[in-house]
Amino acid sequence: MSRFPFPRYPNGWFQVAYSDEVAIGGVKPLKYFGKDLVMFRTEAGKVEVLDAHCPHLGAHLGYGGKVEGDCIRCPFHSWKFDAEGMCVEVPYAKKIPDRAKIRTWHVNEVNGLIMVWHHAKGEPPSWGIQKNIEFENPEWTTYEKRSWRIRTHNQEMAENAVDTAHFHYVHGTVEQPTSKAEADKHVLRVVSQTKMRTPMGKTTGTVESLSYGFGYSLTRFTGIVETLLVAGVTPIDDEYVDVRFGFAVRKLMNGDATSTVGAAFMAEIERQLGQDIPIWENKIYVTPPLICDGDGPIGLYRRWCKQFYTMENQALPMAPTQPQPEAATA
Ligand code: FES
Ligand SMILES: [Fe+2]
Repeated sequence: MSRFPFPRYPNGWFQVAYSDEVAIGGVKPLKYFGKDLVMFRTEAGKVEVLDAHCPHLGAHLGYGGKVEGDCIRCPFHSWKFDAEGMCVEVPYAKKIPDRAKIRTWHVNEVNGLIMVWHHAKGEPPSWGIQKNIEFENPEWTTYEKRSWRIRTHNQEMAENAVDTAHFHYVHGTVEQPTSKAEADKHVLRVVSQTKMRTPMGKTTGTVESLSYGFGYSLTRFTGIVETLLVAGVTPIDDEYVDVRFGFAVRKLMNGDATSTVGAAFMAEIERQLGQDIPIWENKIYVTPPLICDGDGPIGLYRRWCKQFYTMENQALPMAPTQPQPEAATA
């Protein structure tokens, strides 16, 4: 029985790796959305993600599969599959069976992240992810990375940004930040004024977080220092999500100060996440929530969330073969 009254795997772009985890010709097994997957980088440098298991006799392509050009060869009987998942060679047969095809996933490699599009009904991406100005910018540091595996749901974790009251009571921030949230299609923008501790003492700054669906968000802090947090949250199975944080700082004149500031911010984010985790892992989802006037824009957030779900009864893999009566519109 799920802890949550909404599907486990929302629709959207989700990070499955960083770019530097798969070199040219590299092959890696993945497990996300309750499925076994294989990721590889072709000789031309493009990342492909396919369902993991070979339709012949079921070998996992992520364990011993070999890249050849833009194809991957199965380690068991050497059938070869192209980037569309079509079998293009069975070295010991005259005819390739018609159904020799593996499901492929839409991949977007951007900002040093490898993301895949998940949709419950297999529909193609309805939005993209753009390159940020901070990435591969000599004025910014490269990512300082951290990762966690947490027993929660994407929607629960993301609610953190609009839950202004918890910042004081869980994280001990001096004051409760004031937040404004606005939703524009798949993007939720939350802007908060907050007091932060930095190595240069307490500073007032603006935190802007942009969530692109549930899988990917950018949080920018502007104050004495400018920082960027690139966050990826990806559901693994019925219980856990993988959380990846990449943290960059706009370089200061003094390189030592840059790394001190970067390390201090990362330590602060790690400290806060450490406080959130036991709450997320053990809470229940209350719906409708019992909200008071001091709470943040939780209602707006939850309405925005609904667009990322295809409800179970719409998620049938095949169209019904029987003609169906007109659906009543409620
Ligand atoms: S299981 Fe893949 S080629 Fe036989
Ligand atoms: Fe928090």
